[in-house]
Amino acid sequence: MRTLIFGAKGQLGRDLVAEFEEAGPVTGVDLPEVDVAQMDQVRAAVAEWRPDLVLNAAAYTDVEGAEADPQGAFRTNEFGAACVARAAAEAGAPVVYYSTDFVFSGDHTTPYEPFDPVAPQGEYAASKAAGETATREAAPSHFIIRTAWLYGPGGNNFVEKILRAAAERPVLRVVEDEVGSPTHTLDLAQATRALCGTAAYGTFHAVNAGSCSRYEFAQAILALAGLETSVEPCRASAFPTKAPRPAYSVLATEALTEASGFAMRPWHDALRDYMARREATA
Ligand SMILES: NC(=O)c1ccc[n+]([C@@H]2O[C@H](COP(=O)([O-])OP(=O)(O)OC[C@H]3O[C@@H](n4cnc5c(N)ncnc54)[C@H](OP(=O)(O)O)[C@@H]3O)[C@@H](O)[C@H]2O)c1
Repeated sequence: MRTLIFGAKGQLGRDLVAEFEEAGPVTGVDLPEVDVAQMDQVRAAVAEWRPDLVLNAAAYTDVEGAEADPQGAFRTNEFGAACVARAAAEAGAPVVYYSTDFVFSGDHTTPYEPFDPVAPQGEYAASKAAGETATREAAPSHFIIRTAWLYGPGGNNFVEKILRAAAERPVLRVVEDEVGSPTHTLDLAQATRALCGTAAYGTFHAVNAGSCSRYEFAQAILALAGLETSVEPCRASAFPTKAPRPAYSVLATEALTEASGFAMRPWHDALRDYMARREATA
């Protein structure tokens, strides 16, 4: 299987390259060489590689920045998604688009299913929901994979932010009224490969199993790092943000497991694995 990965230098992109190299030849492209919102560049990448599968991990992921720059977010997350999906469909290759828990409003108290209605609250969330629609419309053979609270190698993610903050301050305050499912890019890459081995096209959720608050996530990060830094819980209102964030965004993964046979492991196990990877490369 020949795989073409857009956004290959991102935290997910890197783990996708490694995972799919086990299944056959892979090429990864990213800015500045290939901009997903430049149809000619996307078509040229597809024509050159002749992929059997296209993974679109390219994204505008600055949630706060998108509030001031919605055009930038929509350009990559919606128009770029349309370009990649169209080029994949023209080449007869299935396409994967990654989306987010942020497409949901956050007013649930039980995990969101793939078929639950979306209600994006901010510009980033709206641009990702639009990217889902663009992908569905351009490519009948698509997988939309929603994930959440992603961390992986080289990313400026929550784990790295907490560890940086702990190096600077003896006490951290972290919000307790935001609940979700931390997800390791390694696990998301494995789930993607399992799903792409099927023709069960559609919308899926792939997050590590279980859930926690940001406060509990931070506690687990510091404990695994062996740091004594203390963490105090606080309300999200203590840290006002431009972009609204869902208070509860746990995603149900049963559809993924039914379609692919792949079960996501518990988030704490996946986090332990990430901390070990960091140690190994330090
Ligand atoms: N991070 C999370 O917590 C999270 C949560 C839920 C869903 N997701 C979704 O998961 C996917 C992967 O996220 P990630 O955390 O791996 O993102 P990431 O680390 O920010 O990687 C995204 C990559 O896409 C590149 N890119 C940006 N605009 C592009 C364009 N116009 N053309 C081509 N490449 C472009 C970026 O390059 P530059 O760095 O040069 O901009 C970067 O290499 C995204 O679809 C994201 O929306 C992420």
